[in-house]
Amino acid sequence: MIKIAVLGYGTVGSGVVEVIEKNKEMVNKKAGEPLEVKYILDLRDFPEDPYGDRVVHDFSVILKDEEVKILCETMGGVGAAYEFTRQALSAGKSVCTSNKELVAAHGPELIRLAKEHCCNYLFEASVGGGIPIIRPLNYSLTAECIQEVTGILNGTTNYILSKMEHEGADYAAVLKEAQEKGYAERDPAADVEGHDACRKIAILSSLMAGRNVDYRKIYTEGITAIEPRDFDYAKQMGMSIKLLALGRETGDKTLAMVSPFLIDAQHPLHMVNGVFNAVFVRGNMLGDSMYYGRGAGKLPTASAVVSDVIDCARHIGKVIMCFWDAQEAQLLPIDQVERRFFFRVKAGEGEEKAKEAFGEGLEEVRLPGVDTELGYVTPVLTEKDFAQRYEKLGQAAVGKRLRMEA
Ligand code: HSE
Repeated sequence: MIKIAVLGYGTVGSGVVEVIEKNKEMVNKKAGEPLEVKYILDLRDFPEDPYGDRVVHDFSVILKDEEVKILCETMGGVGAAYEFTRQALSAGKSVCTSNKELVAAHGPELIRLAKEHCCNYLFEASVGGGIPIIRPLNYSLTAECIQEVTGILNGTTNYILSKMEHEGADYAAVLKEAQEKGYAERDPAADVEGHDACRKIAILSSLMAGRNVDYRKIYTEGITAIEPRDFDYAKQMGMSIKLLALGRETGDKTLAMVSPFLIDAQHPLHMVNGVFNAVFVRGNMLGDSMYYGRGAGKLPTASAVVSDVIDCARHIGKVIMCFWDAQEAQLLPIDQVERRFFFRVKAGEGEEKAKEAFGEGLEEVRLPGVDTELGYVTPVLTEKDFAQRYEKLGQAAVGKRLRMEA
């Protein structure tokens, strides 16, 4: 019997207990030994819950109990979760987490600590909810030089953008729905401003590079400036708008960024809608592969945590290798990145200014029945060159420019 403890009995923590209970027979068989939730750490009591008698409020009870070999950290944040994780790993107890903030901020340190104490720090649930993506990058694709990892990594924003695109839904109403469904972060700014996707691409691009990609240095733009009219232009061009998180190897530097992008119908991420996430991975031998599934929500995320618990149970006293050095990866400055851009201007004045600023290489996009504004697609430019030219439009610009991912 392997005893485990769950830290934090919120959406994901209670999901972990539910997955272990509902799939008991299969989980125990795959773990090689029966698993038992011995403790649940939370500030609250749950007198009506069937597991209410396992609730403790003092972490030291779990830490001191030598029977407890595996902890599920589903608390979130980088305060107590960090302290408890350090203490558990230092005591030789493995930790499985869904906490992307903590993994992005302290991943290499916690992986090293686990290695030093012959246990494991696993974080499959920290990226892509229930989609297996950490394990493929860490074990399955070990023969590959990974060149690119591009993902739709935030379920809440993908849900919002899909509803705006397909149903013309109102932004605030859809955000509320995502919160009610348990997809959104406590502070939804973490979703809509791109911070959650930023943490996740920091984790994936660190695994791609084998070195630490500091999430604080990743260029991040959210979806709050996107207007319903942008979707009209996207439709007119046969495109869609998605919040993409990119990690790419570019010679000796790594590009990592989060931003809304116009993507065309041929792009593999074009059909990823609603709360679904997907991660597109390009390796130098395999070529392209894609991982798709539910990126948020109680049971999908809990399923990924429990898969890590099973992995830890199979490797008690052994270290599962993870290649994520504390050494910093060199990031490519955003200014130097090249791509096409889409922007909107007022009809008349804006058309003249656009031609003055960008010359003749622009492709015009007009919406049927709209004569007050129009859009343009630029040729490939660096971010810096585009920004300098775009600034010259001044008040003639409408809305916010969008990046294009060909
Ligand atoms: N708020 C996150 C999302 C939850 O919407 O994807 C899963 O990490």
